[in-house]
Amino acid sequence: MEQYVIKGGAPLVGEVEIGGAKNAALAILAAATMTDDTVLIENVPDVRDTNVMIQAMESIGVRVERPDRHTVKVCAKVVRVHSIEDDYIKKIRGSYYLIGALLGKYNEAEVSLPGGCNIGSRPIDLHLKGFRALGADVRISHGLIIAKADKLTGGHIYLDKVSVGATINVMMAAVLAEGTTIIENAAKEPHVVDVANFLNRMGASVKGAGTDVIRIKGVQRLHGTDYAIIPDQIEAGTFMFAAAVTKGDVTVKNVIPKHLESISSKLVEIGCQVEESDEAVRVVATKRLGHTHVNTLPYPGFPTDMQPQITVALGLSNGTSIVTESIFENRFRYVDELVRMGANIKVEGSVAIIDGVEKYTGAGITAPDLRAGAALVLAGLAAEGFTTVDDIKYIERGYEDFDEKLRGIGAMIEKVNTEKEMQKFKFKVG
Ligand code: EPZ
Repeated sequence: MEQYVIKGGAPLVGEVEIGGAKNAALAILAAATMTDDTVLIENVPDVRDTNVMIQAMESIGVRVERPDRHTVKVCAKVVRVHSIEDDYIKKIRGSYYLIGALLGKYNEAEVSLPGGCNIGSRPIDLHLKGFRALGADVRISHGLIIAKADKLTGGHIYLDKVSVGATINVMMAAVLAEGTTIIENAAKEPHVVDVANFLNRMGASVKGAGTDVIRIKGVQRLHGTDYAIIPDQIEAGTFMFAAAVTKGDVTVKNVIPKHLESISSKLVEIGCQVEESDEAVRVVATKRLGHTHVNTLPYPGFPTDMQPQITVALGLSNGTSIVTESIFENRFRYVDELVRMGANIKVEGSVAIIDGVEKYTGAGITAPDLRAGAALVLAGLAAEGFTTVDDIKYIERGYEDFDEKLRGIGAMIEKVNTEKEMQKFKFKVG
């Protein structure tokens, strides 16, 4: 079984290139099937989740080519079936975007209920409520979501909770509907805006993305386009925190600093220097981190996808911090692993109370999900001695070449498969 082995203690120093946003890519790939023309998408991250999405699209007849590692050409002129019951697709959350896309284009879709990281119950009621408001008949049967309509017509949808997935899914289904759709209490995440921009480039009429009211005027058809996906805000934030926990000096390049504001401001609050330039952010940490309180919130608040990374940092801070997880109810499962590394953290419901310790000590730990897995790697990089991280398949869902990028800024980390490879690494790093 593949695992990461890490020798901690080295400050990370240097520059790292950030890839395209995984969660934007999942939706944009699905949306690309809404036209019969060819669509060229650039800056697609080569990670497990996007590859599973591509495989699912191919399984229904969509032609996908990859002129290079990060460019994907999609042609959905010939789609054989509107039903996706693929074993893999159940494993990724973003599979639900195929419902919005297929329902929007063909007025019918059947897709396996989505899986994804185990971070809470993750209902999809709001997506279904949105499709129904557009006139679709939606039911769940034998593990499939089945949505059908004679025709979709614009509707007025109020999302009871701010949901990235529901906002994007309903927006996709509505672009080819007859009349105008209004989504209220919409999510404002950068990738919501990215998907709206992509749809508009294909000829849709979506206005207001990035605010809490989105207006979609249905159009007759969508056409082909070229599009480059925005940089991944969470990958960037993860490397920014890697600098913070290792007392390093890291410049994350190819980012949109505005998307990182809530992350940058927390880093400044806990004593790091953050310098922004046009397409890069440099994080310098020279002293022990300070404590703070964090509450995860929809954008522009502090992202839930950065909660484990900041908790790892605060676990090493000088004082007591409180982290409140407001989005998902089961996102502290990694804390037990961190405690094994010497952290002093108590979780009560959705709140973690953190008494900072001077150092972590390396241990054998397991990644429970994508972001928590990445955060535990950061803990290993900061820790004294060796750490092994199991179940790195979760990390590979959303981070491209994570170990390689970390090595590029001085981390002692290797992906190993056998005890022999592990010993070789230990011998090499001493
Ligand atoms: C997206 O999940 C991301 N996934 C998640 O990233 C991210 O954590 C999350 O947004 C929040 O930013 C993808 O884009 C594939 P939500 P999503 O709908 O869309 C509740 C990662 O690590 N809700 O915004 O599933 C829900 O339970 C992953 O990359 C309903 O009640 O999240 C949660 O409390 C993990 N009913 C809140 O809304 C619904 O129908 C926000 O969830 C939908 C959601």
